[in-house]
Formats: sequence, C-alpha cells, structure tokens
Amino acid sequence: MKAMENIIELHKVNKFFGEGESRIHVLKDIDLEIKRGDFVAVIGQSGSGKTTLMNTIGCLDVPTSGAYKVDGIETGGLSANALAWVRGRKLGFVFQRYNLLASLTTLDNVALPAVYTGLSHLARVERAKELLTRLGLEDKFKNFPWQLSGGQQQRASIARALMNGGDIILADEPTGALDSKSGEMVMGILESLHGDGHTIILVTHDPGIAAYAHRVIELKDGLVISASGATRLSARPNTKARWMKASTPSPFIATSSPKPSKCRSRPSWPISCVLS
Ligand SMILES: Nc1ncnc2c1ncn2[C@@H]1O[C@H](COP(=O)(O)OP(=O)(O)OP(=O)(O)O)[C@@H](O)[C@H]1O
Ligand SMILES: [Mg+2]
Repeated sequence: MKAMENIIELHKVNKFFGEGESRIHVLKDIDLEIKRGDFVAVIGQSGSGKTTLMNTIGCLDVPTSGAYKVDGIETGGLSANALAWVRGRKLGFVFQRYNLLASLTTLDNVALPAVYTGLSHLARVERAKELLTRLGLEDKFKNFPWQLSGGQQQRASIARALMNGGDIILADEPTGALDSKSGEMVMGILESLHGDGHTIILVTHDPGIAAYAHRVIELKDGLVISASGATRLSARPNTKARWMKASTPSPFIATSSPKPSKCRSRPSWPISCVLS
C-alpha cells in the first residue's frame, strides 16, 4: 500500500443547485485532502452539505466548479461513463437504508457490482459467497433483503461495497437505521476494514460513531469549519474485529476487467447507477 498519499483531493470545490432565484450554494470553496487508509467522519447539521460532499467524492455528482481528484485521477471533464468506471473500481457505497434490490437474493445483490466490471458469473458468485461468509451471512445467500434484519441487510450492503475491492468506502449514516447493537457491529466491521487498508469516509450525526474515526471534518452551511487530525471525540466500545471469522483468509482483493457502464450521471441515483 502506498501510505500517506492523497487518495481524495478537492480543490476549491463549489456546488450549486437550482437556477435563478432558487439557486442555492451548497458546497463553498471546499479544499480537502484525505490520505489513503484514513478513517474520516464528516459531521454537521442537517442541510450543511454532507451528502452533497459524499456524492461528489463518490463521483455520483459533479462540482459546479473546482477540481476533484480520486486516487490520482482528475475527474473534471470525464464523461458519465468514465465517472461510472471510476466509481465501480475505486468506491464502495453503504447507505443508511441499505438500498439492496428487493427482487434479488442477498447473493445476487452482493454480486451485482461485478456484473458491471465484467467478472465472470462463476467468479462473481464465488466472491459474493466469500464476502457474505466473512460477514457472517453464509446461511442467507438465497434470502431476499426483506427476509433479513436491518443489521444483516447492512452487512450485506457492506459485502456489496467490497465486491469490486472497495478501496474507498463511503458510508452515509450507516448506523442511522440500526439498533445500537447492530450499529456497533457495523462500526466494528468498518473499523476492521480500515485495519485492512481501506479508506473509510462516513457521515454521521452521532458523536459516538464519529469517535471511531481518526479524523473529523465538520461542515457548516457548505463550509469546512474544522478538519481535525487524530481526533477522538469520546471513548467508544471495543468492537474491533468481533464480526470477523478469524480463520478465514481475507477476500478483500480488487478485481479488474473494466467495461464502461451506460449509466448517466444525474441528481437522483438509482442503485444500478451507484453500482456501476
Ligand atoms: N438535488 C438537489 N437539488 C436541489 N437542492 C439540493 C439537492 N440536493 C441537496 N440539496 C440541498 O442542498 C443542501 C444540502 O443538502 P445535503 O443533502 O447535502 O445535506 P446533509 O448535510 O446531508 O443533510 P442531512 O443531515 O439532513 O442528511 C440542502 O439545502 C438541500 O436541500
Ligand atoms: Mg445527508
């Protein structure tokens, strides 16, 4: 791993929504660097721009002005297909509401991102099984999302985020819909992935969740008002690696075989677009 290099770089990023009188300035001259392997929490009041920032980092939306580089790739001027390519190979997404597709089994949900990278059916299924097993869901391959608990769905969505490698995991309120025990388990997983070298960026309203991060970035009205390093907001429970099956070898390896996606960039994100 190339330690201490910037995997995320935003330079004077601005984002506006709307036109004319209803035009609003949501991200304001954001300068931000995140190192490879960092664990960052983004906090701030509702409406401060956290999700907009995450969508920008996740190549789900583009800045109105400014420059954004992910893993050395300058994203300005990239086509929607090229952005989807970057998204599919560099980023894994975890959402508050899991966003698993109701019509697919857990296994197929997890395997789906690799359809867009061109991995063979057999390899996809094998890797999805490996990831689900690693996350303690080996008896849920054939279940549909609605047959799983919230915590199980979130674990499946983490497996999905890792399907293509998930170098950078973006998690927007990943524990927001969970009870405290399931939330702890999810944070233990994210902490463990951080230990394995993944870069974790999470949005939270909860200081106890932010305390897992090594760095906290606070947004207020679209401005970064504090970006502290090595911050510990409070003591947190010791959940590290409790979720992991000790004897299982790490399946968290990147896959390749690029194939451009046909998904277009747009403000409301269907899951197929996020996954491609
Ligand atoms: N697609 C959009 N079109 C117009 N306005 C938008 C759009 N997306 C976000 N906004 C506005 O941008 C501002 C920031 O929204 P954002 O979702 O980034 O906030 P947030 O910090 O994530 O809030 P929360 O904590 O409630 O999730 C809000 O005023 C919101 O209404
Ligand atoms: Mg939000």
